[in-house]
Amino acid sequence: MMADSPEALAVLAPREQLLFDFDWKFQFGHGSDPARDLGFGNGQGDFAKTGDFAFAKAKFDDSKWRALNLPHDWAVELPFVHDDVQQSHGYKPVGRRYPETSVGWYRREFEIPASDLGRRIWVEFDGAFRDVLIFVNGCFIGRNDHGYAPFRFDLTDFLAYGAKNYIVARVDASFGDGWFYEGAGIYRHVWLTKTDAVHLGRWESTVRTSLSNNAATLTLNTVVANEGKLTEKAKVTWQILDAAGRTVARAEAAERSIEADGSTNFTTTARLATPALWSVDAPNLYSAVVTVETNGKARDAERVSFGVRTAVFDADKGFFLNGKSLKIQGTCNHHDHAGVGAALPDRLQWFRLAVLREMGGNAVRTSHNMPTPEWVEACDRMGMMMMCETRQMSSNPEGLAQLETMIKRYRNSPSIILWSVGNEEWQLQNEMAEEGAKIAATMVRRCHELDPTRVVSAAVNGDNEQGVSDAFDIIGFNYSLERPDKYHKEHPKRPLYGSETASAISTRGVYSTDPLRNTLSAYDVNHTSWSQLAEEWWKFYGTREWEAGGFAWTGFDYRGEPTPYGWPSINSEFGIVDMCGFPKDTFFYYKAWWGAEPALHLFPHWNFAGKEGEEIPVWVHSNLDEVELLLNGKSLGSQKVPRLGHVEWKVKYQPGVIEARGTKSGKIALVEKRETTGPAVAIRLTADRVELDADGEDVAILKVEALDKEGRPVPTANNLIGFKVSGEGALIGVGNGDPNCQESDKEPKRSLFNGLAQVILQSTRKPGEIRIEAAKEGWDGPELTPAKLVIATKKVQRRASVD
Ligand code: GAL
Repeated sequence: MMADSPEALAVLAPREQLLFDFDWKFQFGHGSDPARDLGFGNGQGDFAKTGDFAFAKAKFDDSKWRALNLPHDWAVELPFVHDDVQQSHGYKPVGRRYPETSVGWYRREFEIPASDLGRRIWVEFDGAFRDVLIFVNGCFIGRNDHGYAPFRFDLTDFLAYGAKNYIVARVDASFGDGWFYEGAGIYRHVWLTKTDAVHLGRWESTVRTSLSNNAATLTLNTVVANEGKLTEKAKVTWQILDAAGRTVARAEAAERSIEADGSTNFTTTARLATPALWSVDAPNLYSAVVTVETNGKARDAERVSFGVRTAVFDADKGFFLNGKSLKIQGTCNHHDHAGVGAALPDRLQWFRLAVLREMGGNAVRTSHNMPTPEWVEACDRMGMMMMCETRQMSSNPEGLAQLETMIKRYRNSPSIILWSVGNEEWQLQNEMAEEGAKIAATMVRRCHELDPTRVVSAAVNGDNEQGVSDAFDIIGFNYSLERPDKYHKEHPKRPLYGSETASAISTRGVYSTDPLRNTLSAYDVNHTSWSQLAEEWWKFYGTREWEAGGFAWTGFDYRGEPTPYGWPSINSEFGIVDMCGFPKDTFFYYKAWWGAEPALHLFPHWNFAGKEGEEIPVWVHSNLDEVELLLNGKSLGSQKVPRLGHVEWKVKYQPGVIEARGTKSGKIALVEKRETTGPAVAIRLTADRVELDADGEDVAILKVEALDKEGRPVPTANNLIGFKVSGEGALIGVGNGDPNCQESDKEPKRSLFNGLAQVILQSTRKPGEIRIEAAKEGWDGPELTPAKLVIATKKVQRRASVD
């Protein structure tokens, strides 16, 4: 996190934003039986009188409800059901046909001090799945009917000051938005925000930058609302801070009147001489502390983070960041991870982006919905560019509201280089092309009004010749490699990019495609009927100057869409990494051709007992000049590495060692070996971090492996391992990346899948240590020496929260 200068913090004081995630109570309701839904919805005047909802009052007894912290996804906790209707959602019993597990109630008591009287107080949700009814102190407050966009309610009139208050959320996941796993429940953060009656409008503070002669002009805008009883005279100041917290500019907008119940715009400019530009290699950020004052007194303030950069799509030359040509090396991703489903702790989102970056990725597309604030912040801070996509492609009030929310929420983020208003809207592209053209035009117009600085597009699976495509600033093609060349020739002035590509399919660590076992070979050899191999799409996009680059489907595997198989597969196999983030071999194809460093990756493993004498394909992904392969010290010959390709041999299997020696300009630059290992005898635990913040949010991501007696990881091990966790932390999820594994995500045990499993541990709010022990589980497995690990959790200044 960026250092706040004491000066900046003092200015922010009038506003309080409290994390409202801890200590909720939860219970399932019912989608069709009021008697099992707290008696709610029996049709007898459900919403008749304000203040009647007993479940949101003091006397209601929730002592038997389950205690939990948010974010929470109940879908990931449910067992899998063999019901083909649920296939694309990962075979979880959620939807109208599963009323017992599709409605959840969340309840919490909280205190509001007497001193808050006169302030405005909102409850703010970063997103929930899906239809939410909110009640406070017996009163119905409001509803939300979509899955991904944030929403909030003003509670000011309904609160008891200097007393206890009760909030209840009924979350109904009976309807879905997408054709992929979506989770269920309050799966993003909740906040309680308190401001003065004179306050900044929500997401109205914008910083637009324009660069010329090495200096940046900042156009600063905001809106101030006055919810007090009298007209107020207010002025707004901006303090611009660099990444180290130093003030680098100040600006002020002259005093203006704001009537009671009114709002007023304020605008001014500031200048930054020689700003540090934001880029993928140096993601320099600035922030603006925006303060509204009346009579010399700060009434409200907020801090917005921004970057100075230019992002230009050119029809002839592709994409330019800060005037420099840069290929978009992107992946599409759903927000879904092993163990936790759609409720990702903040740190896990950073972890996922770090995996994609390690692969050489420089961009992500948030398919097919708006992302969490943490994902966007992580992109801003790590230097990942983003194509930010809304869920509903429509100019109906709901569709436009979702789009507006997305743009207002994130328009200061330098990582976002383009907005996407939809994905593969067949009707609007074909049968309803005329309506599609109008709908898209309205959406694009709205994007430009709210953010004149960015281009707008959508992911189109089609020829882009009609319907929605007319309205777009830049044209995205999903999959087809036949269409872009023709389109470019016929529309030479329109910039192009690959909005969705690849959909290559593979199972980590598996080297044969076996429909009986639902596995797909990890060599880059399988794709669906509509898609391409990694090597195919990147040879196309990587070699055409006018192509800005593209977004591969997908970075991570995700629940649902178990293509091409169905049950018992429960997750997709499109990922370049599995559900846990463990790389499949194709990861190293991208690393070789997207990354800046010399790379060499040899596969498969060399544990093929029983296949002696059979031919095994041996591949190397590398960006070096030439690779020599050796089997047990004997050369099997050298091959030149074709640009954007790979090299391969057929090797008669005999146990021992295969070795790849990569040379650059005639000199050996990198060497990799795969050795035939012995059986697993011990467990190894490795954590991505061994010291966590004791904030109740931070997580450590552990790799679990089995080692042979020489300490080598066994790439074929599938032992069941149990975990005992004690101290100041909890196990919040497990996984192994096996698309066919239906073991629980939440129980403290997991089978290794081809040598690997993952455990996610979360700190409590008390400093101390988390101890984990991993041991063989079950009686009939081979003996394994257990492993132990201790993770320290240190006292930190926690985010302000509702306690
Ligand atoms: C695309 C779609 C994605 C995913 C993918 C699988 O057509 O946009 O959401 O379903 O196919 O290949």
